[in-house]
Amino acid sequence: MTKPHIHLTIPAQAEYIDTVRLAVYSIASKAGFSYEDIEDMKVAVSEACTNVVLHAYEHQHDGIIEVTFELDIDSIYIKIRDYGSSFEYDKQMKPPVPLHNHKLENISPGGLGIYMMQALMDHVEIHTGPGTEIVLAKRLGGNEELA
Ligand SMILES: Nc1ncnc2c1ncn2[C@@H]1O[C@H](COP(=O)(O)OP(=O)(O)OP(=O)(O)O)[C@@H](O)[C@H]1O
Ligand SMILES: [Mg+2]
Repeated sequence: MTKPHIHLTIPAQAEYIDTVRLAVYSIASKAGFSYEDIEDMKVAVSEACTNVVLHAYEHQHDGIIEVTFELDIDSIYIKIRDYGSSFEYDKQMKPPVPLHNHKLENISPGGLGIYMMQALMDHVEIHTGPGTEIVLAKRLGGNEELA
């Protein structure tokens, strides 16, 4: 059986990110994810979409964000794709270092979005140039051993 795919295309503007958050809620709750997992996914997806609005299409007003939801037997994959200007992903950022190991003065106000995606999701892939694609994955019941 083919995996269900759901595609959503929104204008790359902050006011439409809510629509993606609602889609995350609807799709992930139907797939059986917990409230906590869904909240984590909403934050991670919002960070990825906000990056597109702020960084990819900084000087462009007709950009789009394509969001694809792919459901596997035990996981959800959410892909956030843009066709704007990309960036050099600093591979030294991964794997994420826990924030509590850093002194507050060493944590810069910017640069937390990708970090949060990595902390909140089970797996994050960043494909850059041309444009950017972020793949966010979460396993169903992935936190059970921590409960
Ligand atoms: N979709 C994107 N297109 C272009 N550049 C991006 C994209 N996503 C991230 N970046 C680049 O990666 C950097 C790190 O992103 P990250 O979300 O971690 O931090 P930030 O957006 O700078 O700050 P914060 O999210 O903490 O407000 C950004 O500053 C930007 O240069
Ligand atoms: Mg950001």
